[in-house]
Amino acid sequence: MSTRHFLDIAGLSVEEVRHILDLAQRPIPSLHRPLEGLGAALIFEKPSNRTRHSMEIAVVQLGGHPVYTRGEEVGIDVRETAEDVAAVMAGYHGILAARVFKHDVVVRMASVSSVPVVNMLSDHSHPLQALADALTMQQAIGDLAGRSVAWSGDWNNVARSLAEICVLLGARFSIATPPGYAPTASEVARINALGGGEFVAGDDPARAVAGADAVHTDVWVSMGQEAETAKKEKAFAAYKVTASLMAKASPDARFFHCLPAHRGYEVDADVIDGPASRVIAQAHNRLHSARGALAFLMGVK
Ligand code: CP
Ligand code: NVA
Repeated sequence: MSTRHFLDIAGLSVEEVRHILDLAQRPIPSLHRPLEGLGAALIFEKPSNRTRHSMEIAVVQLGGHPVYTRGEEVGIDVRETAEDVAAVMAGYHGILAARVFKHDVVVRMASVSSVPVVNMLSDHSHPLQALADALTMQQAIGDLAGRSVAWSGDWNNVARSLAEICVLLGARFSIATPPGYAPTASEVARINALGGGEFVAGDDPARAVAGADAVHTDVWVSMGQEAETAKKEKAFAAYKVTASLMAKASPDARFFHCLPAHRGYEVDADVIDGPASRVIAQAHNRLHSARGALAFLMGVK
C-alpha cells in the first residue's frame, strides 16, 4: 500500500475524516502506541505555540519521540533540497511534519518520503487546525451535517481548510471577505465538489453570519505577510467580529478562532473572552485531533 500523507483536508474522504475525529476521542491506551520506537521530525519554518506543543505531546502519547527542529537548521531548499531532506529523514523517523512558507515544499517532501508527511501549516492550508475546529464544533453544536458555519475575515490557509472540512462533513460554510481577498470562482467550485455541504462566498459579514451556528475568524495578517499590515488593516476593518455581528447569528451561536488572536482587530475582546467563545477548548482539541491524525496515518483502525 502506498504511504498516506496529510497535506490537505481535501485529500481525505468523509469516512476518513470521521475516522480521525473518532480516533481523537478514544482513550489513549486503546490506540496501542503505534509510534513505539519511532521518531517524528517536526520542522518549523515559522513560529508556533499550539502546533508544536500538541504535535510533540501527541507523538509521545503514541509512543514515539518528537524531534523539534527550526527551519533554518534544516535549511529546506537552502542547505539541501526538500526532496533530500525528506528522503534522508524518512530513514530516521516514522512521521515527517513541517510548517512551511510554500505549500509546494510539503508536496515535494511527500513525493519522495516513505513515511507519512504532515502539513503543520503552509501558505495554502492548515489541515490539523481544521480537524480541531470540526471536533470543537461537534462538541459545541452537535453533528455538522446541515449546520451553518460562518467566517468573516481573510480567505487564508485556516479558512481554506475549514471550508474543506465543513463541505466534507455536510455543513453550509458561508464566508465574507473584502473585495480583492475573495476565493476564486474555481476554488469555490472545487470545494463545493468535495462533499454534501455547501460553500458560499460573499462580501457582506452580516449576510454570512445570519442565523449561523458557529462564527469563525482568524488574523488579517498571516505569518509572512507582515509587509501588508497597513493595507490589510484598512481593507478588513468592516470584517471584525463584534458583539453586534454575533447578534445576527443564531442565539446559541459559538465563536471560534484558531489563535493567536489580535483583540480589537479581527475580533473584539467581549466576543473572544465572552460566554459564546470556545477558543480555549478549540486550542486544547489541537492535541486530541493531532493524536487522531497521527494514529490514522500509522494505520490504527
Ligand atoms: N493555531 C495555530 O496553529 O497556532 P500556532 O501557530 O501557535 O501553532
Ligand atoms: N493564518 C495564520 C494562522 C496562524 C495559526 C497564519 O498563517 O499566520
